[in-house]
Amino acid sequence: MQLTWLGHSCVLLSGSKKVLIDPFIEGGSVLDTNPDIVAVTHGHDDHMGEAVALRKKTVAITEIAKYMKSKGIPAEGMNIGGTMTIEGVSFTMTPALHSSFIEEAGPGFAGGSAAGFVIGLDGVKVYHAGDTGLFSDMKLIGELYHPDVALLPIGGRYTMGVAEAMMAANFIGAKTVIPIHYNTWEKIAADPFALKKAVERTTDIRVTVLAPGGSLDIAP
Ligand code: NI
Ligand code: MN
Repeated sequence: MQLTWLGHSCVLLSGSKKVLIDPFIEGGSVLDTNPDIVAVTHGHDDHMGEAVALRKKTVAITEIAKYMKSKGIPAEGMNIGGTMTIEGVSFTMTPALHSSFIEEAGPGFAGGSAAGFVIGLDGVKVYHAGDTGLFSDMKLIGELYHPDVALLPIGGRYTMGVAEAMMAANFIGAKTVIPIHYNTWEKIAADPFALKKAVERTTDIRVTVLAPGGSLDIAP
């Protein structure tokens, strides 16, 4: 299975299926990735992105799924704590400490709760935390689902920063951590190598810093 960080929170998992998470990149488009399934963590513009324009099967919390169905998208709704399998790909929805409304739908259009996902594809489990602050139940995510890779926001201001992500990495215990949601804009400036140094000095966890468009092969 190959994991590609397209930028911001947008990640493409490519194996027997192609799964695109949070289809937004700044100043560009991810329409040409042609995924089988799209997963959306919450309703903010920098995560919904091109979810409607892609017109693919989309996994999201029930409120967002309902909105997407109203746009003619074959969305599959679920909720936090649940798991469902689509075309052999498993999606477990995890909590996220964050807000959510569907920005493109205008003010007041509720998007349910913000969430994250543990996605199982070809024997590999990837935890995409979505936008979130640190919470100690990340330990449960580690103990229950044993993700191989954790994608963690580090940009601060709207999510965890580097210090909190260091503790999150310890809570989750995935062998590989990939920082996301930083340096897209000045307001979320962060140094991913500070996280790498701090985590790798004190644990066996590897922090892989990708450039936008960069990939990592992950064996089961
Ligand atoms: Ni957000
Ligand atoms: Mn965000």
